[in-house]
Amino acid sequence: MIRYGIVGTGYFGADLARSINNIDDAKVTAVFDPHNAEAVANELNAEVSDSLNALVSRKDVDCVIVASPSYLHREPVVKAAEHGKHVFCEKPIALNFEDCKAMVDACKEHNVTFMAGHIMNFFNGVHHAKNLINEGKIGEVLYCHAARTGWEESQPTVSWKKLRDQSGGHLYHHIHELDCIQFIMGGLPEKVTMVGGNVYHQGEQFGDEDDMLLINLEYEDQRYAVLEYGNAFRWGEHYVLIEGTLGAIKLDLYHTGGTLRVKGEGESHFLIHETQQEDHERTAIYTGRGMDGAIAYGKPGVRTPQWLQTCIDKEMAYLHRILQGGAIDESYVKLTNGVAALESIATADACTLSLKEDRKVKLSEIVAPK
Ligand SMILES: NC(=O)c1ccc[n+]([C@@H]2O[C@H](COP(=O)([O-])OP(=O)(O)OC[C@H]3O[C@@H](n4cnc5c(N)ncnc54)[C@H](O)[C@@H]3O)[C@@H](O)[C@H]2O)c1
Repeated sequence: MIRYGIVGTGYFGADLARSINNIDDAKVTAVFDPHNAEAVANELNAEVSDSLNALVSRKDVDCVIVASPSYLHREPVVKAAEHGKHVFCEKPIALNFEDCKAMVDACKEHNVTFMAGHIMNFFNGVHHAKNLINEGKIGEVLYCHAARTGWEESQPTVSWKKLRDQSGGHLYHHIHELDCIQFIMGGLPEKVTMVGGNVYHQGEQFGDEDDMLLINLEYEDQRYAVLEYGNAFRWGEHYVLIEGTLGAIKLDLYHTGGTLRVKGEGESHFLIHETQQEDHERTAIYTGRGMDGAIAYGKPGVRTPQWLQTCIDKEMAYLHRILQGGAIDESYVKLTNGVAALESIATADACTLSLKEDRKVKLSEIVAPK
């Protein structure tokens, strides 16, 4: 039996907890959330801890799941590690490289597992694309392009997810696509540029994040990637496009489906999620909510859609398996040794500096500053 404690039982933490309780030999024993603990604890038959310290000091917690708002991840991760607990931390792991490094280092120092909640790695279609690339099906990858865009209407209340110092804004909050591209391109770019700003969404009914971010990643060997993020796009898109020397792959997360094009073989299709029904459900959610596109958000008490629940189940089952001593697959090593976390936040920080100082930024300035 592995026992889990949850920090933050809002939209995502509650469904992570439910998923854990459905695993044999896994049990959520305690939760800590200053606002939403009671209902989730009752449902899960877990105890409520009245402070973070109380939760991380419990003897009946082996692993701490951190799903509090993103700007609050460092303290619970470091404290959990100091108490010898394994850690699973939601994305973005941190809002700057220094915090991220402190968190990963604390887990290393105390010899506990640190797993990053980069859930796209558990999408069927992403896994399939990585396999196709590893088999050489599209040749050498030269270029990737991701878009996660939509339009935000005025909001009755402004969520922490729209505030730059709490969520990091679109790039950090939607770090999934950056992480996915870095997995495919093999790690950190040499240099980056980011332009953009808050071009439309000013005023009390909006947060203060930038609503348009346009990113270029340059790799040393003349490979490139482009990412677009934001909520100032009336034509919303959500995809990752991977261009190789022999073919190309499109992971469309909006009109949900995967497509492989190979020279001489034409086009073939594969699922992004587990079933056709889940892919259809995702498309229906996106197309059904007007022009919000890929930038709508959950909140406490709301349940995740089935396609996401399936991915959560796979992610939690994986975490549980490695905590039980199971071998870590090659493609998940970076997720479970801190490297994916560090690489994604390092590049996001380089992009942020590029925008701030209006210049091209080398990753070495972030990961190995003089
Ligand atoms: N992997 C994904 O696809 C995915 C999806 C949604 C959210 N997330 C991540 O999960 C985290 C939580 O997001 P959410 O959507 O559940 O947000 P949410 O606002 O629904 O829930 C956050 C919860 O944290 C609680 N909280 C506030 N301060 C806290 C503290 N100091 N300690 C413990 N709990 C505290 C709040 O009361 C709330 O219940 C974020 O980091 C977010 O980026 C990941």
